Amino acid sequence: MSNSQANSAPSAPSHNQLDTKAQAWSALFSEPMSDLVKRYTSSVFFDKRLWQADIAGSLAHAEMLAAQGIISASDHADIQRGMAQITSEIESGGFEWKLDLEDVHLNIEARLTQLVGDAGKRLHTGRSRNDQVATDVRLWLRSEIDLIADLLKELQVSLVDVAEQNVEVILPGFTHLQVAQPVSFGHHMLAYVEMFARDAERMADVRRRVNVLPLGSAALAGTTYPLDRERVARSLGMDGVCQNSLDAVSDRDFAIEFTAAASLCMVHVSRLSEELIIWMSQNFGFIRIADRFTTGSSIMPQKKNPDVPELARGKTGRVVGHLMGLITLMKGQPLAYNKDNQEDKEPLFDTVDTLKDTLRIFAEMVGGQLNPATGQKEGGITVNAPAMEQAALKGYATATDLADYLVKKGLPFRDAHETVAHAVKAAVSHQVDLSELPLAVLQGFHPQIEKDVFDALSLRGSLNARNTLGGTAPAQVRAQLARHRARLG
Ligand code: ARG
Repeated sequence: MSNSQANSAPSAPSHNQLDTKAQAWSALFSEPMSDLVKRYTSSVFFDKRLWQADIAGSLAHAEMLAAQGIISASDHADIQRGMAQITSEIESGGFEWKLDLEDVHLNIEARLTQLVGDAGKRLHTGRSRNDQVATDVRLWLRSEIDLIADLLKELQVSLVDVAEQNVEVILPGFTHLQVAQPVSFGHHMLAYVEMFARDAERMADVRRRVNVLPLGSAALAGTTYPLDRERVARSLGMDGVCQNSLDAVSDRDFAIEFTAAASLCMVHVSRLSEELIIWMSQNFGFIRIADRFTTGSSIMPQKKNPDVPELARGKTGRVVGHLMGLITLMKGQPLAYNKDNQEDKEPLFDTVDTLKDTLRIFAEMVGGQLNPATGQKEGGITVNAPAMEQAALKGYATATDLADYLVKKGLPFRDAHETVAHAVKAAVSHQVDLSELPLAVLQGFHPQIEKDVFDALSLRGSLNARNTLGGTAPAQVRAQLARHRARLG
């Protein structure tokens, strides 16, 4: 039945198979879609990556339809057989994806009907692409979140490994990128572990809201068939069913939330990237990263550029951009489903791809790669402890310790602060560290300064003194290491 005949006499119902997209909705249409519109509206070339979720959702739906007596057992068996065949066709690369069939859902359904006939046409009973696509995206995202959770764990383990080897290594801690106080490099690494641990928690939290079933909401209002939605949810391993059909088919807040969590995680990666870049610059020389994560310059033979951290910093902008795209996509959309939502996929897919690649590469770049021969990880970042310590000796990192020393002798903190400022000024003019000023000179700033001041002024003394919970004293860092090891298993 060709569409062009629709304007003339009323026509008999078509029994054609679903070969083109127009046939998915009916003979109501009086002209075919132009090629440009077909291309503009179709999503198959990106949403085909939902195929496994689409088939899983369809199988769960068909199983329930059969259990409820809505389709026969033999239709159900045909659908299962057809889907098994489609699965192997897609896996082997033999499946022919057709632009004409718009999206992954229509492509698979059309092929099913080609393979098993009427049973294929019965699959869509009590279902719409609106609840179908919402279900597919949720199923797909759920499994991606699980992979991301593993990668976040790997990255944390890498950071904990580096932290453990560097508890006693001292570098200057910065505020405003000015030398502030000495900190343990292990402590510094564990700051990132805290960030990525929160990212993992956020992902787990998002997963709870992703893992809820829209199927059974049909186009927008529910359906007239006696569906058992709880049964479908159980068979798909979902934690519950969406309780309002209009909301279920239309909101993409779960994708937005995920992208927000991914953006924050990338922001954390970008902070680490920035530090790695600074630390490996010649002026710092604190660390080296393995050559395989750097590139040379085509003109300057001496260069080794930190391309991977730089790209990660750049890709953070890309993911934050996807968040802006998705949240703007949702803004002002009336209930219920609108085609705008088809635009959720590319930003979501790219967010997942970018985040996964970034986490994988960072876990290896920081912690190294397992050498199966030795059972050890190799090729992670190399720490130049003397360079770090040397830098901490510049910049009066222990000035606060001198103030604290005076407070312990009874001075009010503000007065001690002022006294030390004078001492630092003198040290600056002599171009020496505070610890290099003779005792007599120090005593000129305050008579209560005694020989034991030099313990307070040493980097190690300063570090050990910050022994409050969460502080940088090695004892505290070791306690945190143990906590993270236990948590990460
Ligand atoms: N490809 C569509 C999407 O991604 C599937 C849902 C289409 N529904 C519709 N009523 N046109 O959102």
